[in-house]
Amino acid sequence: MSASDKLKQQAAQAAIKYVEKGTIVGVGTGSTVNFFIDELAKMKDDIEGAVSSSEASSERLKQHGIEVFELNNAPEVPVYIDGADEIDEHGQMIKGGGAALTREKIVAAVAKKFVCIADETKLVGRLGQFPLPVEVIPMARSYVARQIVKLGGDPVWRQGVTTDNGNWILDVHNLDILNAVELEEQLNNVVGVVTNGLFAARSADVALLATADGVKELK
Ligand code: 5RP
Repeated sequence: MSASDKLKQQAAQAAIKYVEKGTIVGVGTGSTVNFFIDELAKMKDDIEGAVSSSEASSERLKQHGIEVFELNNAPEVPVYIDGADEIDEHGQMIKGGGAALTREKIVAAVAKKFVCIADETKLVGRLGQFPLPVEVIPMARSYVARQIVKLGGDPVWRQGVTTDNGNWILDVHNLDILNAVELEEQLNNVVGVVTNGLFAARSADVALLATADGVKELK
């Protein structure tokens, strides 16, 4: 296993203590979350099941014999575990590198607690080095791109990628993110935007960041 994968696995293992027995666990998407799913499988008989933020995670959960519930049938999700592309010290994040941002944001909204798992390279002083993913309705792609240029960003269409919701992704480069909550709202107000990858209004409650010296916990 690579050094980077070992760190992802350590963060994933550290998240297990946040899983409440007998409940439905919110599960995100990505390579770090894949390690978490593998850990969760070891205690699958202690949980009711999971709700998932992507078809890929649902598939992996099912392969491990973990029941995947429809979110509409899961009124309470005590904890949601997910990765991030960037996270700052306030728990605000950029997500969506794996194109699952919309379902991730929905499950995060339902969950009581958001636990972010990542290796320490994801911790940044200011969000925005990672291009910000924006999920758009396909027919609105060019319109949304023009509006994003007016907001100071350089959108690039992630060609060949269709989200689990049948939509497309624009990756926005060179944004100067001074106020992430404000920008999140501005982008969501553009007609044709389904959602954007800023998780600022609903940030992480806990971040488990794996370092060579162990897992650091930010609250
Ligand atoms: C997927 C996401 C992921 O959480 C994010 O891309 C981090 O992934 P990884 O754990 O593979 O670095 O937002 O849409």
